[in-house]
Amino acid sequence: MTKKTIEDDLIEIFEKLHKNPELSYKEYETSKTLKGILKEYGIEILNLNLDSGLVAVIRGEHPGPVIAIRSDIDALPIQENTGLPYQSLVSGIMHACGHDFHMTSVLGAARLLNERRNEIHGTIKIIFQPAEEAPGGAQLIIDTGVLEDVKVYFGIHATPSLPVGTVGIGEGAVMAAVDKFSITVKGRGSHAAHPNEGIDPIVVSSAIVMAVQSIVSRNMDPFSQGVVSITHLEAGNTWNVIPEQAYMEGTVRTMKPEDRVLFQNRLKALAINVAEAYGAEAEFNWHPGPPAVINDGELAELSKKVAEKNGYLIREAYRSLGGEDFSLYLQKEKGMFLRIGTGGGYPIHHPKFRVDRKAIMPTAKYLADLAIEYLQANIIA
Ligand code: NI
Repeated sequence: MTKKTIEDDLIEIFEKLHKNPELSYKEYETSKTLKGILKEYGIEILNLNLDSGLVAVIRGEHPGPVIAIRSDIDALPIQENTGLPYQSLVSGIMHACGHDFHMTSVLGAARLLNERRNEIHGTIKIIFQPAEEAPGGAQLIIDTGVLEDVKVYFGIHATPSLPVGTVGIGEGAVMAAVDKFSITVKGRGSHAAHPNEGIDPIVVSSAIVMAVQSIVSRNMDPFSQGVVSITHLEAGNTWNVIPEQAYMEGTVRTMKPEDRVLFQNRLKALAINVAEAYGAEAEFNWHPGPPAVINDGELAELSKKVAEKNGYLIREAYRSLGGEDFSLYLQKEKGMFLRIGTGGGYPIHHPKFRVDRKAIMPTAKYLADLAIEYLQANIIA
Protein backbone atom coordinates (compact mmCIF):
# COMPACT_ATOMS: atom_id res chain seq x y z
CA MET A 1 0.00 0.00 0.00
CA THR A 2 1.33 3.42 -0.91
CA LYS A 3 1.74 5.91 1.88
CA LYS A 4 -0.91 8.61 2.19
CA THR A 5 0.37 12.02 1.12
CA ILE A 6 -0.50 15.37 2.71
CA GLU A 7 -2.67 16.00 -0.35
CA ASP A 8 -4.60 12.74 0.21
CA ASP A 9 -5.18 13.81 3.81
CA LEU A 10 -6.38 17.26 2.80
CA ILE A 11 -8.78 15.88 0.19
CA GLU A 12 -10.23 13.59 2.85
CA ILE A 13 -10.67 16.58 5.19
CA PHE A 14 -12.24 18.62 2.40
CA GLU A 15 -14.81 15.92 1.65
CA LYS A 16 -15.67 15.57 5.33
CA LEU A 17 -16.18 19.33 5.69
CA HIS A 18 -18.18 19.47 2.46
CA LYS A 19 -20.50 16.69 3.66
CA ASN A 20 -21.18 18.44 6.96
CA PRO A 21 -21.93 22.13 6.28
CA GLU A 22 -23.22 24.42 9.03
CA LEU A 23 -24.86 27.84 8.83
CA SER A 24 -23.42 31.12 10.11
CA TYR A 25 -22.84 31.27 13.89
CA LYS A 26 -23.76 27.57 14.17
CA GLU A 27 -20.44 26.12 13.03
CA TYR A 28 -20.10 24.01 16.19
CA GLU A 29 -19.18 20.63 14.66
CA THR A 30 -17.00 22.32 12.04
CA SER A 31 -15.05 24.04 14.81
CA LYS A 32 -14.65 20.73 16.67
CA THR A 33 -13.37 19.06 13.50
CA LEU A 34 -10.87 21.88 12.91
CA LYS A 35 -9.66 21.74 16.51
CA GLY A 36 -9.20 17.97 16.29
CA ILE A 37 -7.10 18.25 13.14
CA LEU A 38 -4.98 21.12 14.52
CA LYS A 39 -4.33 19.10 17.69
CA GLU A 40 -3.27 16.15 15.55
CA TYR A 41 -0.82 18.47 13.77
CA GLY A 42 0.50 19.61 17.18
CA ILE A 43 -0.60 23.22 16.59
CA GLU A 44 -1.52 25.44 19.55
CA ILE A 45 -5.13 26.66 19.71
CA LEU A 46 -5.75 29.91 21.60
CA ASN A 47 -8.32 29.85 24.37
CA LEU A 48 -11.00 32.28 23.21
CA ASN A 49 -14.17 30.73 24.60
CA LEU A 50 -15.93 30.88 21.23
CA ASP A 51 -18.69 28.37 20.41
CA SER A 52 -17.84 28.58 16.74
CA GLY A 53 -14.64 29.73 15.13
CA LEU A 54 -11.13 29.64 16.56
CA VAL A 55 -7.64 31.06 16.28
CA ALA A 56 -4.53 28.87 16.25
CA VAL A 57 -0.93 30.04 16.45
CA ILE A 58 2.36 28.89 14.97
CA ARG A 59 5.42 30.37 16.64
CA GLY A 60 8.48 30.55 14.43
CA GLU A 61 11.95 29.72 15.71
CA HIS A 62 13.13 33.28 14.97
CA PRO A 63 11.79 36.58 16.29
CA GLY A 64 9.65 38.77 14.03
CA PRO A 65 6.24 40.31 13.51
CA VAL A 66 2.87 38.63 13.85
CA ILE A 67 0.85 37.96 10.69
CA ALA A 68 -2.44 36.14 10.14
CA ILE A 69 -4.01 33.84 7.59
CA ARG A 70 -7.79 33.82 7.62
CA SER A 71 -10.37 31.27 6.49
CA ASP A 72 -14.12 31.60 6.85
CA ILE A 73 -16.01 28.46 7.88
CA ASP A 74 -19.76 28.89 7.30
CA ALA A 75 -22.06 27.39 4.65
CA LEU A 76 -25.27 28.60 2.97
CA PRO A 77 -28.99 27.71 3.11
CA ILE A 78 -28.92 26.12 -0.36
CA GLN A 79 -29.98 22.59 -1.37
CA GLU A 80 -26.96 21.01 -3.03
CA ASN A 81 -27.47 19.57 -6.49
CA THR A 82 -23.99 18.55 -7.61
CA GLY A 83 -24.49 14.78 -7.45
CA LEU A 84 -20.93 14.50 -6.10
CA PRO A 85 -20.12 11.36 -4.08
CA TYR A 86 -19.29 13.66 -1.15
CA GLN A 87 -22.42 15.84 -1.54
CA SER A 88 -23.81 17.59 1.57
CA LEU A 89 -25.48 15.24 4.04
CA VAL A 90 -27.49 18.11 5.49
CA SER A 91 -30.71 18.86 3.69
CA GLY A 92 -30.97 22.49 2.60
CA ILE A 93 -27.42 23.45 3.63
CA MET A 94 -24.40 23.51 1.36
CA HIS A 95 -20.83 24.76 1.18
CA ALA A 96 -21.72 26.73 -1.96
CA CYS A 97 -19.16 29.48 -1.44
CA GLY A 98 -16.08 27.29 -1.10
CA HIS A 99 -15.47 28.00 2.57
CA ASP A 100 -14.74 24.26 2.92
CA PHE A 101 -11.96 24.79 0.38
CA HIS A 102 -10.67 27.79 2.37
CA MET A 103 -10.63 25.78 5.61
CA THR A 104 -8.85 22.82 4.02
CA SER A 105 -6.22 24.93 2.25
CA VAL A 106 -5.54 26.99 5.37
CA LEU A 107 -5.29 23.81 7.48
CA GLY A 108 -2.80 22.51 4.93
CA ALA A 109 -0.83 25.76 5.12
CA ALA A 110 -0.84 25.52 8.93
CA ARG A 111 0.50 21.98 8.78
CA LEU A 112 3.28 22.94 6.36
CA LEU A 113 4.16 26.04 8.40
CA ASN A 114 4.31 24.03 11.60
CA GLU A 115 6.78 21.68 9.92
CA ARG A 116 8.86 24.67 8.75
CA ARG A 117 9.06 26.60 12.05
CA ASN A 118 12.85 26.83 11.63
CA GLU A 119 12.26 29.07 8.57
CA ILE A 120 9.72 31.34 10.27
CA HIS A 121 10.85 34.78 11.47
CA GLY A 122 7.83 35.72 13.53
CA THR A 123 4.45 34.32 14.47
CA ILE A 124 1.52 33.23 12.31
CA LYS A 125 -2.01 33.29 13.64
CA ILE A 126 -4.49 31.10 11.82
CA ILE A 127 -8.02 32.50 11.93
CA PHE A 128 -11.02 30.24 11.36
CA GLN A 129 -13.78 32.81 11.28
CA PRO A 130 -17.49 32.02 11.63
CA ALA A 131 -20.36 33.79 9.86
CA GLU A 132 -18.79 35.50 6.87
CA GLU A 133 -22.14 35.21 5.13
CA ALA A 134 -24.22 36.52 8.05
CA PRO A 135 -22.21 38.87 8.16
CA GLY A 136 -20.41 39.95 11.32
CA GLY A 137 -18.12 37.01 12.00
CA ALA A 138 -14.93 38.98 11.42
CA GLN A 139 -15.99 41.49 14.09
CA LEU A 140 -16.58 38.65 16.52
CA ILE A 141 -12.96 37.47 16.13
CA ILE A 142 -11.61 41.05 16.26
CA ASP A 143 -13.56 41.70 19.47
CA THR A 144 -11.74 38.85 21.24
CA GLY A 145 -8.64 41.10 21.19
CA VAL A 146 -6.46 38.24 19.99
CA LEU A 147 -5.49 40.07 16.78
CA GLU A 148 -4.14 43.23 18.47
CA ASP A 149 -0.55 42.34 17.53
CA VAL A 150 -1.27 41.24 13.93
CA LYS A 151 0.45 43.43 11.30
CA VAL A 152 -0.60 41.75 8.05
CA TYR A 153 -3.58 39.63 7.00
CA PHE A 154 -3.82 37.13 4.17
CA GLY A 155 -7.17 35.80 2.98
CA ILE A 156 -8.36 33.70 0.05
CA HIS A 157 -11.52 33.06 -1.91
CA ALA A 158 -12.39 30.19 -4.22
CA THR A 159 -13.00 31.61 -7.69
CA PRO A 160 -14.86 29.40 -10.17
CA SER A 161 -14.34 31.80 -13.09
CA LEU A 162 -10.59 31.16 -12.88
CA PRO A 163 -9.20 27.72 -13.74
CA VAL A 164 -7.11 25.72 -11.27
CA GLY A 165 -3.53 26.97 -11.42
CA THR A 166 -4.54 30.60 -11.81
CA VAL A 167 -4.59 33.19 -9.04
CA GLY A 168 -6.29 36.58 -9.23
CA ILE A 169 -4.13 39.26 -7.63
CA GLY A 170 -5.36 42.83 -7.53
CA GLU A 171 -4.10 45.86 -5.70
CA GLY A 172 -6.21 48.61 -4.18
CA ALA A 173 -9.97 48.02 -3.90
CA VAL A 174 -10.74 44.46 -5.05
CA MET A 175 -14.11 43.84 -3.41
CA ALA A 176 -16.89 46.29 -2.71
CA ALA A 177 -18.37 47.95 0.34
CA VAL A 178 -21.74 46.35 1.00
CA ASP A 179 -24.46 48.75 2.11
CA LYS A 180 -28.16 48.06 2.43
CA PHE A 181 -31.05 50.51 2.25
CA SER A 182 -34.81 50.48 2.58
CA ILE A 183 -37.50 52.95 1.55
CA THR A 184 -41.06 53.08 2.83
CA VAL A 185 -43.44 55.12 0.68
CA LYS A 186 -46.52 56.36 2.48
CA GLY A 187 -49.42 57.32 0.20
CA ARG A 188 -53.15 57.24 0.76
CA GLY A 189 -55.28 54.20 0.05
CA SER A 190 -58.30 54.34 -2.19
CA HIS A 191 -60.55 52.32 -4.47
CA ALA A 192 -58.76 51.25 -7.64
CA ALA A 193 -61.53 52.92 -9.65
CA HIS A 194 -61.02 56.26 -7.88
CA PRO A 195 -57.25 56.85 -7.80
CA ASN A 196 -57.88 60.59 -7.69
CA GLU A 197 -59.13 60.13 -4.13
CA GLY A 198 -55.86 58.61 -2.94
CA ILE A 199 -52.11 58.83 -3.45
CA ASP A 200 -50.88 55.69 -5.14
CA PRO A 201 -47.66 54.47 -3.44
CA ILE A 202 -47.09 51.93 -6.24
CA VAL A 203 -46.80 54.66 -8.89
CA VAL A 204 -44.55 56.68 -6.55
CA SER A 205 -42.35 53.63 -5.87
CA SER A 206 -42.06 52.93 -9.59
CA ALA A 207 -40.86 56.50 -10.14
CA ILE A 208 -38.30 56.07 -7.35
CA VAL A 209 -37.04 52.77 -8.82
CA MET A 210 -36.50 54.48 -12.18
CA ALA A 211 -34.99 57.64 -10.69
CA VAL A 212 -32.25 55.85 -8.72
CA GLN A 213 -30.92 54.32 -11.95
CA SER A 214 -29.47 57.75 -12.74
CA ILE A 215 -27.06 57.66 -9.76
CA VAL A 216 -24.58 55.36 -11.52
CA SER A 217 -25.01 56.98 -14.94
CA ARG A 218 -25.24 60.68 -13.94
CA ASN A 219 -23.73 61.17 -10.47
CA MET A 220 -20.92 58.67 -10.03
CA ASP A 221 -17.51 59.41 -11.55
CA PRO A 222 -17.42 57.30 -14.76
CA PHE A 223 -14.00 56.00 -13.67
CA SER A 224 -15.48 54.64 -10.42
CA GLN A 225 -17.17 51.27 -10.04
CA GLY A 226 -20.51 50.98 -8.28
CA VAL A 227 -23.96 49.50 -8.53
CA VAL A 228 -27.36 50.01 -6.94
CA SER A 229 -29.95 47.22 -7.07
CA ILE A 230 -33.48 47.34 -5.70
CA THR A 231 -34.18 43.70 -4.99
CA HIS A 232 -37.39 43.67 -2.99
CA LEU A 233 -40.55 45.66 -3.68
CA GLU A 234 -43.79 45.05 -1.88
CA ALA A 235 -47.19 46.76 -1.89
CA GLY A 236 -50.86 45.91 -1.81
CA ASN A 237 -52.63 42.59 -1.50
CA THR A 238 -55.46 42.57 -3.99
CA TRP A 239 -56.51 43.78 -7.46
CA ASN A 240 -59.03 46.52 -6.76
CA VAL A 241 -57.53 48.43 -3.85
CA ILE A 242 -54.81 51.05 -4.03
CA PRO A 243 -52.75 50.38 -0.89
CA GLU A 244 -51.67 52.84 1.77
CA GLN A 245 -47.96 52.21 1.46
CA ALA A 246 -45.16 50.43 -0.34
CA TYR A 247 -41.83 49.07 0.84
CA MET A 248 -38.61 48.47 -1.04
CA GLU A 249 -35.06 47.50 -0.19
CA GLY A 250 -31.82 46.89 -1.98
CA THR A 251 -28.08 47.17 -1.91
CA VAL A 252 -25.34 49.54 -2.96
CA ARG A 253 -21.86 48.26 -3.86
CA THR A 254 -19.00 50.73 -4.17
CA MET A 255 -15.19 50.68 -4.19
CA LYS A 256 -14.43 54.15 -2.76
CA PRO A 257 -15.51 55.61 0.61
CA GLU A 258 -16.68 58.84 -1.07
CA ASP A 259 -19.00 56.87 -3.35
CA ARG A 260 -20.70 55.33 -0.32
CA VAL A 261 -21.58 58.83 0.83
CA LEU A 262 -22.66 59.87 -2.67
CA PHE A 263 -25.04 56.91 -3.08
CA GLN A 264 -26.50 57.35 0.39
CA ASN A 265 -27.18 61.06 -0.19
CA ARG A 266 -28.57 60.67 -3.71
CA LEU A 267 -30.81 57.72 -2.79
CA LYS A 268 -32.22 59.63 0.14
CA ALA A 269 -32.76 62.83 -1.88
CA LEU A 270 -34.41 60.98 -4.79
CA ALA A 271 -36.70 58.92 -2.55
CA ILE A 272 -37.87 61.84 -0.43
CA ASN A 273 -38.22 64.38 -3.24
CA VAL A 274 -39.80 62.08 -5.82
CA ALA A 275 -42.33 61.04 -3.18
CA GLU A 276 -43.00 64.67 -2.30
CA ALA A 277 -43.52 65.58 -5.94
CA TYR A 278 -46.33 63.01 -6.03
CA GLY A 279 -47.80 64.19 -2.74
CA ALA A 280 -46.55 61.13 -0.86
CA GLU A 281 -43.96 60.74 1.87
CA ALA A 282 -40.86 58.53 1.85
CA GLU A 283 -38.87 57.27 4.78
CA PHE A 284 -35.29 56.33 3.93
CA ASN A 285 -33.08 54.00 5.97
CA TRP A 286 -29.41 53.26 5.35
CA HIS A 287 -27.66 50.24 6.91
CA PRO A 288 -23.89 50.36 6.36
CA GLY A 289 -22.12 47.02 6.00
CA PRO A 290 -18.45 46.07 5.69
CA PRO A 291 -16.23 48.47 3.71
CA ALA A 292 -14.35 47.62 0.50
CA VAL A 293 -11.46 45.15 0.62
CA ILE A 294 -8.31 47.15 -0.12
CA ASN A 295 -5.24 45.13 -1.07
CA ASP A 296 -1.83 46.54 -0.23
CA GLY A 297 0.42 47.25 -3.24
CA GLU A 298 3.63 45.76 -1.80
CA LEU A 299 1.80 42.64 -0.67
CA ALA A 300 0.34 42.32 -4.18
CA GLU A 301 3.88 42.39 -5.62
CA LEU A 302 5.10 39.78 -3.13
CA SER A 303 2.02 37.63 -3.79
CA LYS A 304 2.77 37.71 -7.54
CA LYS A 305 6.42 36.81 -6.99
CA VAL A 306 5.57 33.84 -4.78
CA ALA A 307 2.72 32.79 -7.12
CA GLU A 308 5.12 32.70 -10.05
CA LYS A 309 7.61 30.59 -8.08
CA ASN A 310 4.74 28.20 -7.32
CA GLY A 311 3.89 27.89 -11.01
CA TYR A 312 0.66 29.87 -10.91
CA LEU A 313 -0.67 31.86 -13.83
CA ILE A 314 -1.51 35.35 -12.58
CA ARG A 315 -4.66 37.25 -13.44
CA GLU A 316 -3.85 40.87 -12.66
CA ALA A 317 -6.27 43.36 -11.13
CA TYR A 318 -8.93 40.76 -10.40
CA ARG A 319 -11.87 42.53 -8.73
CA SER A 320 -15.57 42.15 -8.04
CA LEU A 321 -18.46 44.15 -6.59
CA GLY A 322 -19.20 41.29 -4.23
CA GLY A 323 -18.50 41.92 -0.55
CA GLU A 324 -16.27 40.30 2.06
CA ASP A 325 -15.99 41.04 5.75
CA PHE A 326 -12.25 40.34 5.41
CA SER A 327 -12.22 44.14 4.97
CA LEU A 328 -12.90 44.56 8.69
CA TYR A 329 -9.45 43.14 9.52
CA LEU A 330 -7.92 45.70 7.16
CA GLN A 331 -9.42 48.70 8.96
CA LYS A 332 -6.29 48.91 11.13
CA GLU A 333 -3.60 46.97 9.26
CA LYS A 334 -2.75 46.00 5.70
CA GLY A 335 -3.56 42.79 3.95
CA MET A 336 -4.01 40.79 0.80
CA PHE A 337 -7.11 38.99 -0.45
CA LEU A 338 -6.28 36.43 -3.12
CA ARG A 339 -8.69 34.91 -5.64
CA ILE A 340 -7.71 31.29 -6.09
CA GLY A 341 -8.86 29.60 -9.30
CA THR A 342 -11.00 26.58 -8.42
CA GLY A 343 -12.76 25.93 -11.77
CA GLY A 344 -15.90 23.80 -11.52
CA GLY A 345 -18.12 25.58 -14.06
CA TYR A 346 -20.78 27.07 -11.77
CA PRO A 347 -20.73 30.38 -9.88
CA ILE A 348 -20.56 30.66 -6.11
CA HIS A 349 -23.93 30.37 -4.27
CA HIS A 350 -25.21 28.05 -7.05
CA PRO A 351 -26.63 24.59 -6.10
CA LYS A 352 -24.18 23.01 -8.56
CA PHE A 353 -21.16 25.00 -7.38
CA ARG A 354 -18.10 22.81 -6.93
CA VAL A 355 -14.43 23.21 -6.21
CA ASP A 356 -11.86 21.23 -8.14
CA ARG A 357 -10.00 19.37 -5.39
CA LYS A 358 -6.75 19.70 -7.34
CA ALA A 359 -6.67 23.34 -6.19
CA ILE A 360 -6.27 22.43 -2.50
CA MET A 361 -2.65 21.30 -2.13
CA PRO A 362 -1.12 24.07 -4.30
CA THR A 363 -3.09 26.68 -2.31
CA ALA A 364 -1.84 25.27 0.99
CA LYS A 365 1.75 25.42 -0.23
CA TYR A 366 1.31 28.89 -1.76
CA LEU A 367 -0.07 30.32 1.50
CA ALA A 368 2.72 28.72 3.54
CA ASP A 369 5.41 30.07 1.17
CA LEU A 370 3.78 33.50 1.15
CA ALA A 371 3.76 33.72 4.95
CA ILE A 372 7.38 32.57 5.23
CA GLU A 373 8.59 34.89 2.45
CA TYR A 374 6.76 37.88 3.89
CA LEU A 375 8.35 37.33 7.29
CA GLN A 376 11.80 36.73 5.77
CA ALA A 377 11.51 40.02 3.88
CA ASN A 378 10.62 41.81 7.11
CA ILE A 379 13.23 40.50 9.50
CA ILE A 380 13.62 42.86 12.41
CA ALA A 381 17.35 43.62 12.65
NI1 NI B 1 -17.51 33.26 0.41
